[in-house]
Amino acid sequence: MTAAAGPGLIDELVLGSTLKLEELIDRKALAELMESVRDLFRVPVRLYSEEGRLLADAGAENQLYAQLSESRPLRVALEEIVQRVKNLAPGPDGIARMSCITGARYCVARVEYDGHSMGRFILGPYALPGGTPDVAALAALEPELDAPRTTELFGKLPAVTDELATQIGAHLSRMLDLVLFSEHRALLTSQMHLASVRESFRELEDKSKKLESAYTKLTELDRLKSNFLATMSHELRTPLTSIIGYSEMLVEGLAGELSAEQRDFVQTIREKGEQLLLLIKGLLDLSKLESGTMSLRKDHVEAAKIVKDVISTVQPHALKKDVRLIQSVDPGLPRVFADGERLGQVLLNLAENAVKFTPPGGTVSLEAKLVRMDPEPLGTQHGMVLLATKRSGVEFRVADTGIGIPENERARVFDAFYQVDGSSTREQGGTGLGLSIVKRLVEAHDGNVSIESNQPAGTVFVVRLPLRHTSLG
Ligand SMILES: Nc1ncnc2c1ncn2[C@@H]1O[C@H](COP(=O)(O)OP(=O)(O)OP(=O)(O)O)[C@@H](O)[C@H]1O
Ligand SMILES: [Mg+2]
Repeated sequence: MTAAAGPGLIDELVLGSTLKLEELIDRKALAELMESVRDLFRVPVRLYSEEGRLLADAGAENQLYAQLSESRPLRVALEEIVQRVKNLAPGPDGIARMSCITGARYCVARVEYDGHSMGRFILGPYALPGGTPDVAALAALEPELDAPRTTELFGKLPAVTDELATQIGAHLSRMLDLVLFSEHRALLTSQMHLASVRESFRELEDKSKKLESAYTKLTELDRLKSNFLATMSHELRTPLTSIIGYSEMLVEGLAGELSAEQRDFVQTIREKGEQLLLLIKGLLDLSKLESGTMSLRKDHVEAAKIVKDVISTVQPHALKKDVRLIQSVDPGLPRVFADGERLGQVLLNLAENAVKFTPPGGTVSLEAKLVRMDPEPLGTQHGMVLLATKRSGVEFRVADTGIGIPENERARVFDAFYQVDGSSTREQGGTGLGLSIVKRLVEAHDGNVSIESNQPAGTVFVVRLPLRHTSLG
């Protein structure tokens, strides 16, 4: 247990101040024990709680009291005696004895636990060995008393000495003390366990509240970040367009002829401006995708045309790097229901990466074909998955023979701004936004993107889009 359960509980458990006999004992087991004592000495034994409740009873047939109770005055007198016995206060030794009007005896033995009085055993009525009934006292209450019968029945009471009764009472008390000790320990253990479980639960609840509030804060921060990105990107785009526009005009000599060096400088301004514009567009796309405000203009588009456009866009860079480009589109491929421009952006990002991370002499291939897509899992029951039918889909594979992506990095490369930490990646430039946009765009089309290894070296990016909204074309 890390934190203490309330001091109240501990005190209560350890000091036993509020413990009750009936809460601790197993009544059945105790009754059996008391019955064995009664069978051994024939003395009736009863156990009462501190409040006077009968907890266990090993009584015996008592013909004498049954006969006497037929007389009303004697019955009243006997009942009074029983009450007095029950309320008898034991002395410092824990024992008290008392005589009944019949001349029979009662012995009371206190039950103590850990310094607290918990209840009492009452033994009796019993007769002292050789004892006789107090016929005179009884006859005073009931003049019609059948004296010979009374004497006969008195003789049937168990005969024990007061010493023996006291020993039996003390013995029972000690036994109960032992039982109480072990029961109390068990109770203590289970209570402690309960308290510790309660405490752990409270701690968990606390932590989950903290987590929840941290999550709310983070979501809010994320929203603010997206808003900020969207606003900033938008605001940066306007002046940047002017910078690019004016530098273009300068390069074209619209403001007068430039020297070769001036033209070079202005050309650099233009190129860097365009790079910056691309980055800003990327940020804007990402924030729109994150906030769910990107609108897709879906139509039935031809995959072959998109692949061809992408190849011709990356061709100059590939040629410069001496990377061979291959395209292969399934001739029977149906049209895809997608935003053509965004699908082109996805494939272009992947193709650009492939060329970028493939050394000279390598190959990049772009393939599109019809496939059966595994259904999305509907739940954890496998039966459900089996029942779902496979859908048709179109698969784009962008494969390269480049530096490859280690297995443990594959999930992270889709995070915004994440780049695999390696000198070759850093050398290639870029901001690490491309794949995060790719993933979100593909998901906005209900598709998925994954990474495989190419053999013997390189990477394959696999994009799968469902065909359910397609028309054959
Ligand atoms: N074909 C690939 N081969 C090897 N590594 C790759 C490939 N594609 C992506 N990566 C790794 O994943 C990282 C993230 O790619 P991503 O396209 O998001 O960013 P980038 O290309 O570095 O920058 P940007 O696309 O924003 O210009 C890359 O920096 C690179 O480390
Ligand atoms: Mg990229």
